[in-house]
Amino acid sequence: MAPRKRMSAGERDRRRRMQWWHEAKFGMFIHWGLYSVLGRHEWAMEIEGIPVPEYERLADQFKPKRDCARQWAKLAKRAGMKYMVLTTKHHDGFCLFNTELTDYCAPKRACGRDLVAEYVEAARSEGLRVGFYHSLMDWHHPDGARCAEDEAARKRFVAYVHGQVRELCTNYGKLDILWYDVAWPLAPDGWESAKMNRMVRKLQPDIIVNNRNKLPGDFSTPEQHITAEPGGRAWEACMTMNESWGYHATDDAWKTPKQIVRNLVTCAHDGGNYLLNIGPRADGSVPAPSVRTLNAVGEWTDKYGHAIYGADRCQVTRSRFANFTRKGKTLYVHVHFWPGDTVTIGGLRTKVKGAKLLPSGKAVSFEQDRFRVRFTGLPEKAPEKLVTVLQVECASVPRQDMMYIRTRRKRGKA
Ligand code: GLC
Repeated sequence: MAPRKRMSAGERDRRRRMQWWHEAKFGMFIHWGLYSVLGRHEWAMEIEGIPVPEYERLADQFKPKRDCARQWAKLAKRAGMKYMVLTTKHHDGFCLFNTELTDYCAPKRACGRDLVAEYVEAARSEGLRVGFYHSLMDWHHPDGARCAEDEAARKRFVAYVHGQVRELCTNYGKLDILWYDVAWPLAPDGWESAKMNRMVRKLQPDIIVNNRNKLPGDFSTPEQHITAEPGGRAWEACMTMNESWGYHATDDAWKTPKQIVRNLVTCAHDGGNYLLNIGPRADGSVPAPSVRTLNAVGEWTDKYGHAIYGADRCQVTRSRFANFTRKGKTLYVHVHFWPGDTVTIGGLRTKVKGAKLLPSGKAVSFEQDRFRVRFTGLPEKAPEKLVTVLQVECASVPRQDMMYIRTRRKRGKA
């Protein structure tokens, strides 16, 4: 056998830093800024070609209610989320935090408050981990585009971006996540991304960073789709609840609570996290469909969250009517299209020792042969509105082999 590769000190440290995050599985993304005043998607400034001076005037109208961050944090907690990530600055360049590097920030405009400070306090008071999203691309900064061709501009712009990242990592206590976004128009060398990550890690030794400053960082960030990373690398699928990240007054393409629970289960099955977005209005209030959905998701996580948090990657593959999560030798069957009084899993090559229906814990009868296990005597109708969960104890780590069925299927008389 090839000798086991020893884990490097860096890898050990990453494991330590990321342990809570792997267990957490579910977080809230918040896109909020001047674009929330317009309510036409967070890219409105670019999509509609709005000139900088015209867009800047939105800062006179951005006067959120006090206490809105508290509402988000409470909502996140109710939904069963364990961390939050807020846009400290999106591509429009407007900063929600107090910065010495520009006046284009909430504390120095009509708002008059450090919204990031309020957010940090709110998240902590609900026991949630704190993440900062920060856009590298900046449509407002005069050097934001010309930095690609002009070295003096690049130097100024990189000093600005690094300086703000330094402020964020210095002025708000312990941070858990730094979530860079859009590294246009520079390459990693141009951004001095390695230096940036070193600075961040020095200021925040426990922080984890994503891969959007064009370096791998600690985790990958599939956007609007759930795709596991090869090679066991950590990943987090970020997703909107409708089709916009920032508040959009007429985007009504809302996902249902059931779709969201299914996505969460899929992430947990594939070994990743789910970062689900809200786009509050300019006053900080959260659109009603998001509130309703997160409450419904919270009712589900209250009952079944223990099948999600801390789950291990699961080899049993999702079928047409159910998906799976796993903790050690325990398999959780998440049934989204209820089949009636019998739930069957084909190809399970692990001996089942017992099963129960959650949340009651009522024992479920089962029959198992080489090809399938059938859980019988279940209710005719789905016991749960969203996704019903069976907890199955196995004699070893559950393993499925569908080829076993295909190649040795029984023929002839039953
Ligand atoms: C993107 C978009 C953006 C959104 C983000 C979230 O790159 O530019 O508006 O903030 O991804 O993942």
